[in-house]
Amino acid sequence: MKAKLTLHGEFSIGEVDKRIYGSFIEHLGRAVYNGIYEPNHGDADDLGFRKDVIKLVRDLDVPVVRYPGGNFVSGYNWEDGVGPVDKRPVRMDLAWMTRESNRIGVNEFAEWAKRVNSEVMMAVNLGTAGPDEARNLVEYCNFPGGTAWSDLRRGHGVEKPHNFKLWCLGNEMDGPWQICHRTAVEYGRIAAEAAKVMKWTDPSIEVVGCGSSNARMPTFGEWEAGVLEQAYEQLDYMSLHIYFANNENDTPNFLGRSLEMDTFIKTVAGICDYVKAKNHSKKQINLSFDEWNVWFHSHDQDAKIEKWTEAPARLEDIYTMEDALTVGCMLITLIKNADRVKVACLAQLVNVIAPIMTEAGGPAWRQTIFYPFMQASRYGRGTVLRCPVSCEKYDSQEYNDIPYLETVAVHNDEKKELTIFAVNRNLTESLDLEAEIYGFEKYRLVEHTAMHNADIKAVNSAKEEKVKPEVQGKGTLDPESGRLVVRLPPASWNVIRLG
Ligand code: AHR
Repeated sequence: MKAKLTLHGEFSIGEVDKRIYGSFIEHLGRAVYNGIYEPNHGDADDLGFRKDVIKLVRDLDVPVVRYPGGNFVSGYNWEDGVGPVDKRPVRMDLAWMTRESNRIGVNEFAEWAKRVNSEVMMAVNLGTAGPDEARNLVEYCNFPGGTAWSDLRRGHGVEKPHNFKLWCLGNEMDGPWQICHRTAVEYGRIAAEAAKVMKWTDPSIEVVGCGSSNARMPTFGEWEAGVLEQAYEQLDYMSLHIYFANNENDTPNFLGRSLEMDTFIKTVAGICDYVKAKNHSKKQINLSFDEWNVWFHSHDQDAKIEKWTEAPARLEDIYTMEDALTVGCMLITLIKNADRVKVACLAQLVNVIAPIMTEAGGPAWRQTIFYPFMQASRYGRGTVLRCPVSCEKYDSQEYNDIPYLETVAVHNDEKKELTIFAVNRNLTESLDLEAEIYGFEKYRLVEHTAMHNADIKAVNSAKEEKVKPEVQGKGTLDPESGRLVVRLPPASWNVIRLG
C-alpha cells in the first residue's frame, strides 16, 4: 500500500501549546498512594515520593498535571489536605467509595510536581462546595501573604505562593454520577461566579469550564451552549473528555475512533464560536482536552472492588499494542487541532489508566502507551504543518472513510527539526509513505523509529517490554528534491525525524 504526503514550511495550522502534553493525577485507586507516593519503598525520597516514578514522569516530559480530580474533586474539601498530617481527617470519598486519608494534599502535590518539572492544573470543587471554597483555595495557593488563607499556607511551611496558573471549575458536572450533578444553567451560573471571585483573588489565572463528559452524552451540545451562555466572558477554556474502548474486539473500528475525537473537537470549537457570535464577543474560548485515553480493560475487575478500602487497585488497564496505536492516533488528532486545543491531559499518569505502572515495594514500568506519548511530547513541539495526504481509506462498523495513514508533522524551528508522526492503520500490509517536502532544503533524515508487534494484543509488564519503538534503517531523503520515502510496518506507530 502507498500513501503520499506534501509538506511545505510556509503552510501551517498553528503553534503547539506544550500543555497539550499534560497528564492527570487523581486521588483514585493507586495513583497517589502506592503510585507517586510510597514512603516505605526502597527508592522513596525525603517526602516519600518514589524516585523511579519521578524519573519516568520526567522522561515523558509532562508540562502540566491536573489534580486532584476527576470525580473525586466534587466532594473534596481541600482544607482536609493541608496542615499537620497527623491531624488530617480520614474521609469517605463518595466518588470512588474509598477511604481517603488525606496524607497527600495540595502542598505535597505541588512539591511533587516541581520534582517532575511540571506545573499544577488545579481543580476546584463545584459539587459539594462553591465559589467561597474556590476563592479561598486560590488565596491559599497564590497570594503572597498577609491574609488569613495565605498566612495559613505560610504557617504550613510554604513561604512562597505556588502561583498555579490554570484552574478547572469542577469536573464533569453534566454527569448524573457526579457528586452534586447540575443542569447547564445551574453549572454555568456557579462557574461564572466562581471564576469571577477566583480571578479577583488572582487576576493572572486562567479557568476551564466543564464541557460534556463525552460527546455521547444526551445533552452534548446543548450543555456546552447552555454553560457558555451563562459564563462566556468568565471562561478561558472549555473542557472535553473522551475514553475509547474496543469492547467488540473490532480492531479496524477501534483504530478509527480518533475520527470521532476530531469531530468532537471541531463541534465544541463551533459551539464556542456560536456563543461568541451571539454575544458579539471579541474573545475566543479555546479547548482543554483534559481527559483522554483508552479505558475499558479494567471495568469487570473494578466491579468487584470492596467499598471503603484505601487505595484499592482500580482502573488498572494493561495496554496492548493496538491501544498504543489508538493513543497514537489520538495524539496526532490533538496536534492537528493545535489551533484550538491548548491544553490536554492524558488520563491518567500513574497506575490508573496510565502509561506508568508500579508494584508496591517493586519496580515501576512502562506500558505500551508510554512511548507514543513520550515521543510526541519530546518531538512534537513547534509549528504544526498542514498535512495533505492521499491514501486509501476503509469503512468500519461505526466510521466511514478512515484513512489507512494517520499523520501530522511538526517543525521545531529552534532545534531545526521536522518530525512526522504516522500511524499505519493497515493490520496486514506495510505502507510506503512518499513525502514531498518543501522549505527544508538542508534537512537530512535523522531517524525513523517504529513501534509494532506481530501480536496486536501484546502488552508490556514489569518483567518484559515487548512493545517499544525500534530504529528502522531503510528510509531515504533526497536532499535535492526533498523526496522522503519510508516504509511503515503494518499496524505501527512511527516517528520520522528530519533535522
Ligand atoms: O479518569 C477517570 C475518571 O473519568 C475521572 O475521575 C472522571 O472525570 C472521568 O469520568
